[in-house]
Parts: sequence; structure tokens; C-alpha cells
Amino acid sequence: MKHLLNIPTKWGMGLLAILAVLPGLAAEETVKSPLLERDVLPILQKNCMGCHGGLKQKRELDLRTLPAMLKGGKGGPAVVAGKPEESALWQSIAEDEMPKGKPPLSKKDKDVLKDWISAGLPTLAHLLKKYEKPLLPAGEKHEPGVVADAVDGHVSGQMANRGLKAAAVAGDAEFLRRLYLDLNGRVPTPEQAAAFLDSSEPDKRAKLIDELLAAPEFGVHFGRTWREWICPPELPSDMNSGRQPVQQSRDLGKWLARQFNENATWDKLVRDILTVKGEIKNQPQLIFYGLVGQNAQATPSGSTRAIGSLFMGVQLQCAQCHDDPFRDWAQNEFWGLAGFFNSMTGNFSKVQSREVPGEMSIPKSAFFNAGTRVPVGFLHGTKPDAKRKTDWRGVFVDWLTRRENPFFARAFANRLWFQLFTRGIVHPVNDMRALNPPTHPGLLNLLTNEFAASGFDVKHLLRCICNSQTYQRTSRGTVARQQELFGRAPMRVMTADMLLESLKIAYGDPKLDLRTHAKDDGNTNGESAAVGDEYMEFHRRFGTNEEDATDFTHGIPQMLTFINHPRLRQGGRFLEDWLKKNPDIKPETMIERLYLGTLSRRPGTEELAEAVAYTAACEEPKQAYTDVLWMLVNRSEYLFVR
Ligand code: HEC
Ligand code: HEC
Repeated sequence: MKHLLNIPTKWGMGLLAILAVLPGLAAEETVKSPLLERDVLPILQKNCMGCHGGLKQKRELDLRTLPAMLKGGKGGPAVVAGKPEESALWQSIAEDEMPKGKPPLSKKDKDVLKDWISAGLPTLAHLLKKYEKPLLPAGEKHEPGVVADAVDGHVSGQMANRGLKAAAVAGDAEFLRRLYLDLNGRVPTPEQAAAFLDSSEPDKRAKLIDELLAAPEFGVHFGRTWREWICPPELPSDMNSGRQPVQQSRDLGKWLARQFNENATWDKLVRDILTVKGEIKNQPQLIFYGLVGQNAQATPSGSTRAIGSLFMGVQLQCAQCHDDPFRDWAQNEFWGLAGFFNSMTGNFSKVQSREVPGEMSIPKSAFFNAGTRVPVGFLHGTKPDAKRKTDWRGVFVDWLTRRENPFFARAFANRLWFQLFTRGIVHPVNDMRALNPPTHPGLLNLLTNEFAASGFDVKHLLRCICNSQTYQRTSRGTVARQQELFGRAPMRVMTADMLLESLKIAYGDPKLDLRTHAKDDGNTNGESAAVGDEYMEFHRRFGTNEEDATDFTHGIPQMLTFINHPRLRQGGRFLEDWLKKNPDIKPETMIERLYLGTLSRRPGTEELAEAVAYTAACEEPKQAYTDVLWMLVNRSEYLFVR
């Protein structure tokens, strides 16, 4: 259990970091008086919530939230705004009665609590209220350009409040490469790169965005991304006892790809996953419940945790065994939610609708309250009015996908932003709550409203973001704050999938396979099955750190693979074909092509001269070009999404 308990200190740190960048709040507002979320809760978490939190409530006193403090314990309200002397909380620490049986609070902590009460119990949530005024009229869908302008206005405004300026808009080559990687999961081909760079159409960026959203690779890339969020393919984990149903999870990826390409609205896609019935051979999305369960079997608790994290942006797992000691989730809420997925227990490969009562019995594995029957219920105490059902999943999805649902559109908008900018507006993306506020509340509200008003149109939201200057800014620059405030594009390593797809472009070989193991070792289960798949093998070596894409995980072993790989050293099939078809091709033309197919730009004058001189010095042109290509894919410029 110890490792679980480490989390709170980290949250405290995270919050300080967020407050440091929380834009718009004038400096004096953030320091004038203590704030509940920033200053008070960390003290109470550390010293009091063990006995007055989710787990235990001595004298019925719960100190996790302001309303709970105002309600107080058996002896009355714990806090009275502006009056420390009348507040039980202050009384209890003034003479060191509390924390009971533990070392007294430091003078500093006591002062914080007293000052906070004297100042009238200020909260961050209250300060954030002023960002709730929507940037665009809520409830209507807008043109992408209009939303893009609102994004830019807000982000620049927040920068200006901090005395910072946003970075310049990126040049065509930088934009082109980033957009291809973000929307299609690979760099452009040399022809695609040249066509875009040479075009003088004024709206060529907007056109390219539309084109890439319409390309089949869009769905493939987004399908893979979501499949990995559901369950990382390269990581057999405890949850699946080291095994993963490889084929089925790949089929899920393909199913997702089709949905994204058909632009199935997000509510429909999620409904199709969560309410799926029938057999897996016709309904590949059934594997979802297996992947998030245990040993490829669906479990109500696994479903609840995953659905909370993926589709609602909240972490519910700490409420499984006891009320979350620090977040505002009760154990009853967890199991009330789990009750909706009670019909999904057992083997996922075929789902029979069996009648389940509208309640869930807390299992033994939850330690506390085992056997208690909890009625199905949504979060924050709302209950469905349906009486009796064979399958409650649809009732849950009806609630989840309503436009005004506080979790659904917000969680998606935030995750999409994370995907493009490497940091959520709320970060981490699956821990949205009062203690972890957005850095740009107005921006998050804007995207949430737009997504809901568009009927959860994924491509529309992407179009809005990608057309903004904020998305199109350069990643060049060194001011860290600029990037934290989304005033400069992030640098991140390519994901394993991006890298493999891009190498296929560079080497002109759609079948490029970098496996070093024997292909047909005949063993198809567990570990070896992963080795047997080109993508999974590659993932294992080049998988990026999911939580932090800016973390450079392409370490020395990966570098050595790249530098020494016979397949990469031998050059591409296309080189041979190309040289056969164009025996008289000029070195300049060939080298330009190699640059376009790797770095999505033309070589600079010096780079070109150097490569031409190298070619002249080699006996065999093919070997010279192979070397240049190998040098290009080994540059860090190649490995980064910039
Ligand atoms: C180890 C357990 C424990 C810890 C930690 C603890 N308390 Fe208590 N608290 C109690 C118990 C037990 C009572 C019941 C009264 C008593 O036994 O003194 C109580 C009572 C109270 C009451 C009176 C509630 C009422 O309505 O009668 C307040 C206020 C209070 N605690 C505040 C705090 C604060 C503030 C902290 C942290 C600085 C804290 N407690 C930490 C165990 C604890
Ligand atoms: C599988 C069940 C389970 C889950 C999930 C779980 N806990 Fe617990 N937790 C327990 C049990 C059992 C205890 C009681 C230990 C005891 O009484 O000694 C406990 C106790 C605690 C305590 C009190 C420790 C103390 O010293 O009084 C805290 C704090 C806590 N858990 C935090 C968390 C957090 C945070 C999470 C989520 C990251 C979490 N728990 C998830 C089972 C769980």
C-alpha cells in the first residue's frame, strides 16, 4: 500500500507548479492570502485526513472539502468565515489538541490555517470563476476559423498577462511535418512535401488540414493512439497477467480506425464500445472490456476505472476499497457506477444479456464493506430513474453523452489538446478535479463547448485547433514558460508507430520490417506473439513514455539499433528502383529527394554542397545515397516531432 500513499505529496507539488503558471491571476491575488486548494488542503491532507477524510470521520468530521468543513462534525461547523476564534478547526489546533496523538502543527502551518479563516475562506475555484464567461457563445457550433481565433486570443492574452510574447508562426516545412505526424502518424512523402512547399496558394495550410483529416491514415493513426490508451500494446501487464489478446486488440485498433475515418461522432463511438452486444467476431470492440479487466476477462471494477479515466477524465481507483481519502469520491459512488457494467462479467468473447438488478454487491476484494448492496448511480449522487433493466449500460451512456454532462466533452477536449501539445490543459489528463485546476480555464471551456455544440464532431475540433496560430507556432526557442503557456510548440520524440511509418517513407518501402528475430518461430502466445508482430516488436524497443512524450526514451540501445541495423545500412528498395529509372539523375536532385523524404525540407546550401562532394568521392552512387539517407534518419532532427 505504501506506493499508493506516496501520491498526495506529489499532488501538492503539481499544484504549486500549476499555480505558478496559472495565467491571468495577478501576482498579488495568488500570494495575498492562503487558498484552500493550494495552501490549506495539503496541510489537512498530511495531518488530519487520516482521521477526518474519506477513510475515517472521527466525530463525523470530514475535512476534504469546504462544504464538508462548513457542515462540520458533531460539535458543529469546523470553520466560520472570518472568525478563527469561533472555528472548531482553529480551536482544535491552537492548543495542540489536534492532530490527536501526533506531533503538533508547526507555527507556520497554524498561521496559514488561521489566516485562511480570517480572510473568509478563499478558494481557487472562486478565483477561477472569472474565467467561466465563455469566449464564444456556448451552445452553438462555430466556423473553425472563428474558434481558432478565440484560441489564439486567449492564449496570447494569457501570455501578455505574464509579460511574455508567443513564438513566431512556424515556416511551411516545420508546419507540414508536424501536421502530417499529428494527423496521419507519419512524415510526408518527398512528392507531398515538395508539392506543399512549392504551392503559393494563400490557404494551403487550411487545405492541407482538410486533406489529412480525410486521408485513411488519419483513422489508422487515431485508432492506434486510442488503442494504446486503452491498453499499451507493448506492455503485457499485471492486469492481463502478462498476456494480451494480441489479435483481438489489433482488431480493436482497426475498428477504431474505421470509426475515426467515418467521423463517427465521439458519443456514438463510445456508445458502440460501451453498449456492445453479441460475439467478438462481429463486434471487435468487445475486447475493450477484456483489455481493461483482468486476464482478458471483464470486471465491473476494471470497467469503472477505465471508463472514468478514458471517457470522463477522472481517477476513481482510490475509491474502490474506501472513500478516496483526498478526492471527493465515495466508495459507494465507485460501486454505484460499477453496477452499470455488472452484466459484463466473465468471458468477453460472447456477451449474453443477463438480468442484473439495479444494484451491485461490493466484492470481498474491496476489503471494506464487502457484501453491502449499492444501487446503481452516476457520480455526484445523481440516480437513474429507470426501474428494472436487463442491461444498465445504455442508461449510463445516455447520461454520459448528454451535451451538458460535466465530464464527457471536457475529458475528450483536454485529451486531444494533450495529444497535440504534450500537456493537457488539465494535467494529468485523467485527474480532473478542484485540486488540479486547468492552466487555461477559458480555453478548456471554449473547446468543451465547441465539441459538445458540434455534436461531438472529432474532426471539427481538430480542424479548429490545427487552424489556430497557437498550433502553428514554431517549436524553436528556449523560454520554458513560453511553452508551458502554449505560446510555443512542444518538441517531442516520435512515437514508435510514427517512427516506423516514417522510416517506410524514407526507405520507400511500405513493407520495411526491422525485426531482428526470426519471423517464423511458430510460437504465437504471450511474449513471442509480440515479437512476431512488426509493430509490437518495434514498440518494445522504441515505445515512448506515455505520460511524458518529451522525455527522450530513444536511448543508447535504440541509437545502436539505428546506427547498426543492416536494413537501414543497406539503403532502400526505392533507391535502386529510382536509380534504374533515372540513370542520369543529378546528385543535387537525388539529395534533395532524400531530405524531403526524411526531414520534410530541402537541404541548405552547405548541407547540399557537403552531400554532393561526398557523392562525388564515392565510387558507387547508390552507396553514397544510402549513406546520406542513413545519416539523415540518424539525426535528432529526424526523431523529433517539432
Ligand atoms: C489520529 C486521529 C486524528 C487525527 C490525525 C486528527 N484528529 Fe481530530 N479528532 C480525532 C478524534 C478521535 C476526535 C474526537 C474528539 C477527541 O477524541 O478528542 C477528533 C475531533 C476533532 C474535532 C472536533 C469535531 C467535533 O465536531 O466535535 C476537530 C475540529 C478536529 N478533530 C480537528 C482536527 C484537525 C484540524 C486535525 C489535523 C490538524 C485533526 N483533527 C487530526 C482524531 C484525529
Ligand atoms: C484494493 C483496495 C484498495 C485500494 C484500491 C486503495 N486502498 Fe487505500 N487502503 C486499503 C486498505 C485495506 C486500507 C487500510 C489499511 C489499514 O487500515 O491499516 C487502506 C488505507 C489507506 C489509507 C490510510 C492509511 C493510514 O495510515 O491510515 C490511505 C491514506 C489510503 N488507503 C489511500 C489510498 C489511495 C490514495 C488510493 C488510490 C491510489 C488507495 N488508497 C487505494 C485498500 C485500498
